Amino acid sequence: MSVQSSPTELVYDPYDYQIDENPHPIWKRMRDEAPLYYNAQYDFYALSRFQDVLEASLDAQTYISGRGTVIELIDEPMQNPPMIFMDPPQHTAFRKLVSRRFTLAQIGRLEPRIRKLCGDYLDPFVGAGGFDYVADFGAKLPVMVISSLLGVPEEDQEQVRIWTDLSLYRAPGETGLSQAGAAAMGDIRDYWHGLIRERRARRRDDVMSELIDVELRERDGTPRKLTDDELFAFYLLISSAGNETVARFLGSVATILSQFPDQRENLVANPHKIPNAVEEVLRYEAPSPIQARWCTRDVELHGQTLPARSKVALLTASANRDEREFPDADRFDVDRKIDRHVGLGFGIHFCLGASLARLEGRVAIDETLRRFPRWDVDTAGLERVHTSTIRGYCNVPILY
Ligand code: HEM
Repeated sequence: MSVQSSPTELVYDPYDYQIDENPHPIWKRMRDEAPLYYNAQYDFYALSRFQDVLEASLDAQTYISGRGTVIELIDEPMQNPPMIFMDPPQHTAFRKLVSRRFTLAQIGRLEPRIRKLCGDYLDPFVGAGGFDYVADFGAKLPVMVISSLLGVPEEDQEQVRIWTDLSLYRAPGETGLSQAGAAAMGDIRDYWHGLIRERRARRRDDVMSELIDVELRERDGTPRKLTDDELFAFYLLISSAGNETVARFLGSVATILSQFPDQRENLVANPHKIPNAVEEVLRYEAPSPIQARWCTRDVELHGQTLPARSKVALLTASANRDEREFPDADRFDVDRKIDRHVGLGFGIHFCLGASLARLEGRVAIDETLRRFPRWDVDTAGLERVHTSTIRGYCNVPILY
């Protein structure tokens, strides 16, 4: 149930669809009036100022991820958590194992494949007058890119994408998997277990092949390799962290650039500014706006106490609009000098896929502007996705 906010009452309900339409005015009030905000209805605290979110992200002993990072799902520590729900020292060890595969140099090798995919998706719409920028392009691209990264052969990638789509689909008002979605999840699991078996027999030049050979140390120091289930769990993590985020990011690209045509013209005339535009979009509309944590000790903040054993929402999307850090923060400006933002997180859980997200963003914007230097969004067809972890559109019809 949502609570309406009156002019005097400050209510931030992360599940309220109306607030989700444009949470920025409420987040601004929180930064100004209640920098340590408490929501009694759902029993969580929220930090909304840049400095507070940054410091909390850097203090992984006080603000832990081991009980989950989705506000409504924070609970007891999990048995076999994915990396994003681990704390040190387990997180440090696992992150070290995988981060070498996600460096700029490694990821950069995917650029020709990403450009080719962009061309394949966008070319059919040249001269067509319009298409859905997210459904027809933004949501498809990241699934194919992650398949390429992990080693799914090109001829299987479209099938994996279709299964992934089915597994992500939620009927309006539903939060769980549909029957078709559950079947598709089964197909994905079977497919990956088959692929892992093949890679064990014969390595290729892909991340899965490399992960098969990495050595993990047990607590007593005994070395061991990752099991098939752990390798599949890693695929699930990358797929859940790297598909929807990029799709929502590209939805924001389409809506923001149509809202600010002067900024779009600037990019068409100066494509070298596109990398900075990627950072500005991540700052202006962070696709992953809330990172939740469990607080392990009492913390004094703004004359109040954030109590131990409480849930805390780090509002990264609010922090990115904090006027204390970003002058004229509500202005979208591809020329803005951005030294840092928290749109990809910060600290030990900083987005593992940051280089890939940035590469996909840069190439997608470049390939889009080359073909479509101008467009309008058909606002009647805009459709949002509503979850407490991701914010953005699943449908962005554009006309040109
Ligand atoms: C625009 C796209 C993306 C955005 C906005 C985004 C955002 C984020 C954020 C905010 C975090 C920090 C979570 C936390 O502190 O709890 C994070 C972590 C993570 N992201 Fe991304 N992400 C994006 C794309 C990707 C991609 C493409 C991949 C994979 C290839 C990926 C994989 C991960 C993983 C594995 C983590 C967990 C890292 C850890 O716990 O050490 N992300 N991401």
